[in-house]
Amino acid sequence: MDVNKELEIFEEKIQKGEKIEPKDWMPEEYRKNLIRMISQHAHSEIVGMLPEGNWITRAPSLRRKLILIAKVQDEGGHGLYLYNTAETLGARREDMIEALHTGKAKYASIFNYPSLTWADMGAIGWLVDGAAMTNQVSLMRTSYGPYSRSMVRICKEEAFHNRQGYEIIATLCNGTEEQKQMAQDALDRWWEPALMMFGPEDKDSTHSAQSLKWKIKVEGNEELRQRFIAMTVPQIEARGLRLPDPNLKYNPETKKYDYSRINWEEFFNVIKGNGFLNRERLRDRNKAHNEGLWVREAAEAYSKKHSSNNK
Ligand code: 3HC
Repeated sequence: MDVNKELEIFEEKIQKGEKIEPKDWMPEEYRKNLIRMISQHAHSEIVGMLPEGNWITRAPSLRRKLILIAKVQDEGGHGLYLYNTAETLGARREDMIEALHTGKAKYASIFNYPSLTWADMGAIGWLVDGAAMTNQVSLMRTSYGPYSRSMVRICKEEAFHNRQGYEIIATLCNGTEEQKQMAQDALDRWWEPALMMFGPEDKDSTHSAQSLKWKIKVEGNEELRQRFIAMTVPQIEARGLRLPDPNLKYNPETKKYDYSRINWEEFFNVIKGNGFLNRERLRDRNKAHNEGLWVREAAEAYSKKHSSNNK
């Protein structure tokens, strides 16, 4: 069948809301855009383990330690799940890992910011996972079948991540004045990087037009950012915390929140590799990957031995 006819059938399926499956015909740009987005999503999950991982030994109680360990493990699982999803499009695991470890591939810029106090564990669960969840609930409606289904499972676990983070913040707000100040300080530091998680404004977005046309994304960056703000502002007020942006205010005319211009210069500088911790994050990922070589070799040897036994 000629390409134009294939494209027509593909776009008809998209318009009807049908899912595109791995064996279906798809435009090369659709495949490439999805591999880019899904692999970077996976990288974000894996690198996202690092800011919290270094607080596991400093958790203030056994209960908090258990919750944080469970959350960090979940993130690792999300990363592997998403690498598998990208592989259904023909991406090779080793290529994706190499792209991350050499700094060629992106991951969520927010993970290049330092987690300075225990309150940051709360802010990350509450704000970072809250923003990720807002984005991922929308992605459950993405046109690519395996990605849409992977979001269903990931969102269930994301809800736990968000609630446990908010509980940490609520606990601190009900504590001493100093603890409440820790929560305020973490909110002030993580707020703007959390807004950046939704990407640049749609007019400056490289991929949004095509992603929206082929329903890789079903909502634009700004629409999701607004949804996250509307979800979080009442929580900030319920905890008696100060809004992290003096210009953050609901505008009854636009029915949206006004807020201070996001520092996009900082955003693009961080994703260029010049954030607080970009180098340390890649160093830690490379170190973990190299130290885990023996596990991968053992697993391969085991599966080779057992698959030849079953022949
Ligand atoms: N951090 C790093 N890079 C970002 C970014 C961010 N927050 N937002 C955008 N970018 C990059 C894009 O990757 C793109 O660069 P590229 O062409 O080299 O890939 C460029 O900036 C332009 O942005 P666009 O808006 O054109 O890019 P997208 O259309 O891909 O939109 C996105 C960006 C909203 C992040 C989209 O890719 C997306 O929805 N991805 C899936 C969700 C995801 O990856 N979330 C990351 C966090 S996951 C997480 O935090 C889990 C937690 O539990 C640990």
